[in-house]
Amino acid sequence: MKKRKIREKIFWLGAVDWDRRLFDSLIPLPDGTSYNAYLIEGTEKTALLDTVDPPMAENWMAELSEVPKIDFIVSHHAEQDHSGSIPRVLERFPEAKVVVSPKAKGLLIDHLRIPETRFVTVEDGETLSLGGKTLQFIYTPWVHWPETMVTYLEEEKILFSCDFFGSHIATSDLFVNDPGRVYEAAKRYFAEIMMPFRSIIEKNIQKLKGYDIQMIAPSHGQIYDQPAWIMDAYRDWVAGDPHNLVVLPFVSMHGSTMQMVDHLTAAIVGNGVRVERFNLAVTDIGKLAMALVDAATVVVGTPTVLAGPHPLAAYATFLANALRPKAKFLSIIGSYGWGGKTVEILAGMVPNLKVEVLAPVLCKGVPSEADFGALDRLAGAIAQKHKENGFT
Ligand code: FEO
Repeated sequence: MKKRKIREKIFWLGAVDWDRRLFDSLIPLPDGTSYNAYLIEGTEKTALLDTVDPPMAENWMAELSEVPKIDFIVSHHAEQDHSGSIPRVLERFPEAKVVVSPKAKGLLIDHLRIPETRFVTVEDGETLSLGGKTLQFIYTPWVHWPETMVTYLEEEKILFSCDFFGSHIATSDLFVNDPGRVYEAAKRYFAEIMMPFRSIIEKNIQKLKGYDIQMIAPSHGQIYDQPAWIMDAYRDWVAGDPHNLVVLPFVSMHGSTMQMVDHLTAAIVGNGVRVERFNLAVTDIGKLAMALVDAATVVVGTPTVLAGPHPLAAYATFLANALRPKAKFLSIIGSYGWGGKTVEILAGMVPNLKVEVLAPVLCKGVPSEADFGALDRLAGAIAQKHKENGFT
């Protein structure tokens, strides 16, 4: 796509990946994505902020051929969807330098073999004048790797935030025009890559409080020309209390676990608690991650396979442990044929979660009245715990 003007001498110059449906061979992209690079022309120097994913580089370099000079390539983040085309830009502009944090320099040498002589490192808070346009670099670690930083364009009060505040959406609209849609995509993105680093991200948000930010230009998705709501959303996601919500990922083989899930769902709802359930045989794992942002309780439902949890239940549990949601309670329900160690195995897979484990309910074969009674008690215990903690 051609470069598009944002403000005077400030342009979007990225690539829209309309058809991509998976990121990192893991994360579903139901709406595609974009890799947003930005061009800022000062009276003396020109800077390119980030690049695009290498598979998009061929067409993108053609757009770049209309740019007469680039003095600096600011690399906010070494992951290749933003940095991967830097070598091509350096080849095209032999005088250009890559502006990075010292940590990013090391990563870019490791990942892209960029020669050491092509870098300029900047400290936290350092500025770079392009002539009438001043870039201030702000370290914001773990959004989403340890080296990440953002750029604040002082004269225009624009924050170029890379992954921070980003959303995976492919669209022809440069600016946010449907906040509801972007909220969901941004939340999904936060859940998938930033949720594990909540406390550090909270510090980054605090750090940004000192800046008058009138626009946020991320490196995925649309530009926020009214950025207050996305910053408020991030504050809620990182620091807000869990909601009065149970997330219930499950899988069933012959129907017994499904019967238990159906019964428990109704019992939880009957106790005034919301439920989001995900049949792991068919679910979009990104939606599960998104629900985990708010969940106060997670209940995993699984049949017993080869003496342990079904692999899909193990996968979801592994993922939940890696994403470190703020859930406070956990339980396990399911069925078995003759024995097994399902509960022990699953409970041992969540060392990162600071959860209280509520009494699991496992039944032999199809659930009996006694098993349904145990599920009713579990639903009651969940509701009581949520009430005691004031989750709403
Ligand atoms: Fe969009 Fe962490 O890269």
